[in-house]
Amino acid sequence: MEKSIEELERQFNEKIEKGIKIEPKDWMPDRYRKQLLRMMSQHAHSEVVGMLPEGNWITRAPSLKRKTVLLAKVQDEGGHGLYIYCGAETLGVDRSEMIQQLLDGKAKYSSIFNYPTVSWADIGTIGWLVDGAAIVNQTLLAKGSYGPYSRAMVRICKEENFHHRQGYELISTLMSGTPEQRAMAQDSFNRWWWPTLMMFGPSDAHSPNSGELLKWKVKLMTNDELRQRFIDRTIPQAEALGITIPDPDLKYNPETKHYEYGQPNWEELTNVINGNGPCNKQRLNTRIEAEANGQWVREAAEAYAAKRAMKQAS
Ligand code: 3HC
Repeated sequence: MEKSIEELERQFNEKIEKGIKIEPKDWMPDRYRKQLLRMMSQHAHSEVVGMLPEGNWITRAPSLKRKTVLLAKVQDEGGHGLYIYCGAETLGVDRSEMIQQLLDGKAKYSSIFNYPTVSWADIGTIGWLVDGAAIVNQTLLAKGSYGPYSRAMVRICKEENFHHRQGYELISTLMSGTPEQRAMAQDSFNRWWWPTLMMFGPSDAHSPNSGELLKWKVKLMTNDELRQRFIDRTIPQAEALGITIPDPDLKYNPETKHYEYGQPNWEELTNVINGNGPCNKQRLNTRIEAEANGQWVREAAEAYAAKRAMKQAS
C-alpha cells in the first residue's frame, strides 16, 4: 500500500533525528533535495574555481619542491570538485547542467576565490587560512545527514589537512626569513584574513538557509559558530609565527574562552557574491574558456564509450 506523504515525512524526520544517513534512493522532501543540490553544486564549483588563484603561481614557485607541493594541492582541488559533482549527481542533476549554470553566472561559488594572488606568500596564506576554514566547515559537513556528501567530506578533509600544513609551513618559512619576506607574509595575511572570515557566510541573522539546513542536520553549526571556531583556532597559530591580526577589536575573553572580533565588511561580501569582486569576471571567463577548450576531450571520451558499448552489444 502506498505510504502517505505525511508518513514518508515522519519516517524521514525520524531518520534525521536518529542520525541515520539519507541515501540517494530514499524518499526525501523536495526542499531537502534542492538544498543539498544547491550546497553541493556550489561547493563543487568552488573547488574547481579555487584551482585558478593558486594555479597562477605554479610556474612562479621559488623551488622545485614548492612547485611540486603546489601542483599536488591544485590537482587535489580538481579531484575534490569532481568528487562533489559525483555526489551532487546522486540527487538527479547531471554535472553538465550544473557546470552550465556556473558558466551562465547562475550558480555561486565561494567568494574567497574572487581575490587575486599577488605574491608567493598568498599561496601559503590560502593553504593556512582558506583550507583551514574549509577544514573547520567540512569536518562538520562530514557528519551531515546526506550520505554521499558526508562521505565525500571524510576523504576530502584528509587532503585538506595536507593543504593546511603545507600553507602554514610556507608562511613559517617566510616569517623566519628576511625582513622583506616577513613583510610579504604579513601583507598577505592582512589581505586574506577578512575575506576568509566571510567564507563562512553572512551573520546568522542574515542566513536564510541555515534554519532548514540545521533542522535537517546538513549543517551542524551556524555560520557564526563555525567562524568563531576558526578564529579561536587560528589566532594562536598566527601569534606563534609573529603575525599580527588586522583587527583592532580582536581580544581574548577569558570567561567565554573565545576571541571577540570586529565585524567583517558584509557589504563587501554581498558585492563579491553578486559578481562584483576583484576577480569574478576573470575567474568566470577562465572557466568558460577552459570548458570550450575541453570540448574535444569530452567528445572523444563519449565517442570511445559509444564504440565500446557497440562492440559489447555485438
Ligand atoms: N561565497 C559565496 N556565496 C555565499 C557565501 C560565500 N562565502 N556565503 C554565503 N553565500 C550565499 C549562499 O550560497 C546563499 O545564497 P543562495 O541561497 O543563493 O545559495 C546566501 O549567500 C545566503 O547564505 P546562507 O548562509 O543562507 O547560505 P548557506 O546556509 O548555504 O551557508 C555556506 C553558506 C557556509 C557557504 C554553506 O553553503 C556551506 O557550508 N557550503 C558547503 C561548503 C562550501 O561550499 N565551501 C566553499 C569553499 S570550498 C573550499 O574551501 C575549497 C578548499 O579546498 C579550499
